Amino acid sequence: MTVAFAPGRANLIGEHTDYNDGLALAFALRCGARAEARDRADGLVCARAIDPGEADEFPAAAPEPAEGWRAFVRGTVAVLGRRSGADVSFTGDVPLGSGLSSSAALTVALALALGGEPADRIGLARLCSRVESEWAGANTGLLDQLASLLGKEGHALLIDFRTLEVTPVALALGGWRLVVLDSGERHDLATSGYNERREECEEARKWLGLASLRDATTEAASRLPAPLDRRVRHVVEENARVNDTVAALQRDDLAAVGELLDASHASLRDLYDASTPAVERTVSALRAAGAAGARMMGGGFGGSVLALLPPDAGVPAGAVELEPGPGARIVER
Ligand code: GLA
Repeated sequence: MTVAFAPGRANLIGEHTDYNDGLALAFALRCGARAEARDRADGLVCARAIDPGEADEFPAAAPEPAEGWRAFVRGTVAVLGRRSGADVSFTGDVPLGSGLSSSAALTVALALALGGEPADRIGLARLCSRVESEWAGANTGLLDQLASLLGKEGHALLIDFRTLEVTPVALALGGWRLVVLDSGERHDLATSGYNERREECEEARKWLGLASLRDATTEAASRLPAPLDRRVRHVVEENARVNDTVAALQRDDLAAVGELLDASHASLRDLYDASTPAVERTVSALRAAGAAGARMMGGGFGGSVLALLPPDAGVPAGAVELEPGPGARIVER
């Protein structure tokens, strides 16, 4: 039997940049998914989701498409190319649809339990991301899987999605706190505007004749028709904000980090059109509670809001404090 744990993730800054070869600064959470796998001789995968108490059964060598959690189990077996049977069960404590990557945590935990430690964790992140796009219908980037697989205790990860270089950045907050508050609106990457935003970026990229929007400039963005001009401006300026946040952390300037979170949120709302009234209300509540900065996190269109609280501000009702934890691991075999 192999047991694996994979964390969810928070993204401090760098949103909708991963699929544009850009930059992000993310960290692994302490909550996550735990999966167990045991070999079976009959070629069947018998899977059990412990929390809803549901089951699934399919031939390992020929999984058919399915909905909900079953898509993630079947997809993981398929992308790993596993042809032998297994008993699989899993549980998790990342709130679903809240922008904390419950689905990446599940996929990574399953992949480690079913496939063992890979030779290359970045390669495994790529495989796990194929589960999202080919089995769950969300054409996501590599942010969630890389943060879950490469997370480092006490650190955020500066990820360059063009080179896939990952640099740990100490997240020493000196009494300041990062919290997350759920907007109460479930987001679903497969049905929200997420895939549409990704298509718009691709259209803008072709229009500008670039290898990726990493090479775009605000000046080039201004020549594009609406709304592509605003989408590209967001990507270019968000990449710059990631570098500015790393610099602010390195000089212990948490007030500047708060301002950068606010600027990221304004851009996601006004240039990327990825906010909702429920998210806006949540941002306002966090600001009213004394946050130095607050922004929607993850794919948007609902989900959670991240806020940075100065030492004298209490944690608002319903908010949960986040701390950077270690990356995914095999805990028993
Ligand atoms: C979701 C996706 C990621 C990334 C973010 C937005 O979390 O899974 O790949 O695109 O949205 O930054």
